[in-house]
Amino acid sequence: MAQGILTIRDSGESDYFYQESMNTLRTNVLLAGRNIKSITVTSTVSGEGKSEISFELARALAQAGKKVLHIDADMRKPAHVGTQKLQRGTAGLSLYLSGNAKIEEVLFHTNVPHLDMIPSGDMAPSPTLLLEDEYFQKTLKVMKTYYDYIIIDTPPIGTVIDAAVVAKSCDSSIFVVQSGETSYRFAKKALAQLEMTGCPILGVVLNKVNYKKEKYYGKYYGKYYGKYYGKQYGAGRDSQKKGSSGSREGVRKTVRPASSKAAARK
Ligand SMILES: Nc1ncnc2c1ncn2[C@@H]1O[C@H](COP(=O)(O)OP(=O)(O)OP(=O)(O)O)[C@@H](O)[C@H]1O
Ligand SMILES: [Mg+2]
Repeated sequence: MAQGILTIRDSGESDYFYQESMNTLRTNVLLAGRNIKSITVTSTVSGEGKSEISFELARALAQAGKKVLHIDADMRKPAHVGTQKLQRGTAGLSLYLSGNAKIEEVLFHTNVPHLDMIPSGDMAPSPTLLLEDEYFQKTLKVMKTYYDYIIIDTPPIGTVIDAAVVAKSCDSSIFVVQSGETSYRFAKKALAQLEMTGCPILGVVLNKVNYKKEKYYGKYYGKYYGKYYGKQYGAGRDSQKKGSSGSREGVRKTVRPASSKAAARK
């Protein structure tokens, strides 16, 4: 169905904790049940890591042999600034939902086996209207017959309504919280908004955890997993060191069952 091939940059992420966290997230998704096929990823505000997490999750599932479609439904940001560094003017979801492109013109294979994607395309003047259109829902239904998982990146639910609209059409959702940054009240409100869509929340991802500050994880997992599993997973000494010192401003830590109560305990 797809015509072009998009080259995805390597994540370049050898950080042991990061990889382990992505594996945990992937396992949680794989064990969520056969009815969980379309999953939306959102957060309270911009910059918490939705795009990276949604994409890395899609990649991790594809690497596990699942057929995966990643959809960038953030049509408020041009696709070329995203993680895939697409060319300006790459056809995407906005063009398709507005009736100006066929699905095969916006659906790309990637150099990651089993992973296809639909980029957001150029900025749409009214993305909410496009997502509310039943055309989007119908497309998801059809895509579910082709793919094992559809992972959808969205704008922050605390800022615009788009993620709530997408969530209504999805089987499940993942809520990303940037550690130490996102206001507790704001996050709680955003999570409540997500719950109101009726879309079950699969989990909360606490992102950009600083292991240096979070002494418990730094010490315990750093020593334990670093020693026993680091080599086995090819993390090597350097990356173990990187992980425990929080090389990328911190590493991701996943996942706990989500509910407002879980978030409230944070
Ligand atoms: N765990 C992490 N450690 C360090 N940097 C991270 C981590 N996760 C994401 N980032 C960086 O944070 C920035 C924001 O990430 P990303 O674009 O995924 O956020 P977003 O929630 O999609 O933002 P937006 O709502 O604006 O689209 C990027 O530069 C990304 O590389
Ligand atoms: Mg994003």
